[in-house]
Amino acid sequence: MILICRYGQVLHPQGLGLSWPSKLIHRPNFTASSPSRSSSGCSSRCAVKMTVTVDEKKTTFTLKKSEKAFNAAKALIPHLRMCELMPGGVNSPVRAFKSVGGQPILIHSVKGSHMWDIDGNEYIDYVGSWGQQLLVMLMTRKYLFSAKGCPVLAALAETMKKGTSFGAPCLLENVLAEMVISAVPSIEMVRFVNSGTEACMGVLRLARAFTGREKIIKFEGCYHGHADPYLVKAGSGVATQGLPDSPGVPKAATAPTLSSPYNDIADVELLFETNKGEIAAVILEPIVGNSGFITPKPDFLNALRKITKENGPSP
Ligand SMILES: Cc1ncc(COP(=O)(O)O)c(C=O)c1O
Repeated sequence: MILICRYGQVLHPQGLGLSWPSKLIHRPNFTASSPSRSSSGCSSRCAVKMTVTVDEKKTTFTLKKSEKAFNAAKALIPHLRMCELMPGGVNSPVRAFKSVGGQPILIHSVKGSHMWDIDGNEYIDYVGSWGQQLLVMLMTRKYLFSAKGCPVLAALAETMKKGTSFGAPCLLENVLAEMVISAVPSIEMVRFVNSGTEACMGVLRLARAFTGREKIIKFEGCYHGHADPYLVKAGSGVATQGLPDSPGVPKAATAPTLSSPYNDIADVELLFETNKGEIAAVILEPIVGNSGFITPKPDFLNALRKITKENGPSP
């Protein structure tokens, strides 16, 4: 089989859904990577203001700068007659916090397992940029006090001197592919992609091509990115917009997507019975993170694997 994994989110924290404030720190002035446009902050050419100053005497937890920057990202820009910088102020609906409430926080930096927002608040990072930060976290912790610093960051810095992106194959892809394949015995081949959405799109096409079947089962509340076939009773990504199904998705694109309640194995069995020989794949979050933290019932995952094995295409 082929494993399709995410690639390319090198150092930038992608989300903070599970992070909690720990304590405050004082940091000197810094340059924010996120857009911050004060009401008077737009120059005549409307350059996005890139610098923020952290209040070094700050003793309370506030999100004033995050709030201002986020509002700027989703505010009207009257003299440009443009709506928002980004839809909802974000580049993934999940990050707008609409369905969970609260103020989205704009991250400035990360070190080890801790991260800082543009207000200077410090957080424990439980997301780890969906996993790829884990190595950096571990290494940073191990090498925190070494003069050489974290070897992962040093290797990144060295590699970036050659350029950040080529739009062509490069040797390091081979090296990484070999590392992934040798680390996971069941993996025969890999394809690296840029986002979870792409990975889920690719894996769906692969399953359909391999089985010659079109239908898939997904579970209510599970989110697999914003590709058309998955926008049926999805999790936070869609719930954020308050939409059970997204506008702009043709009915035909979601028609082969069967939806089942999570943790209801009898419902899955029924779907397999009524769609015999037509189901290409079952996709799920094994522990649902996108509509709350929902754990599988004992044996739900095993039962699911058994059904999918029994109903796979004949070799
Ligand atoms: C389980 C799962 N799959 C897919 C995605 C989509 O990933 P991306 O936002 O990188 O397209 C997400 C994003 O939150 C996710 O949580």
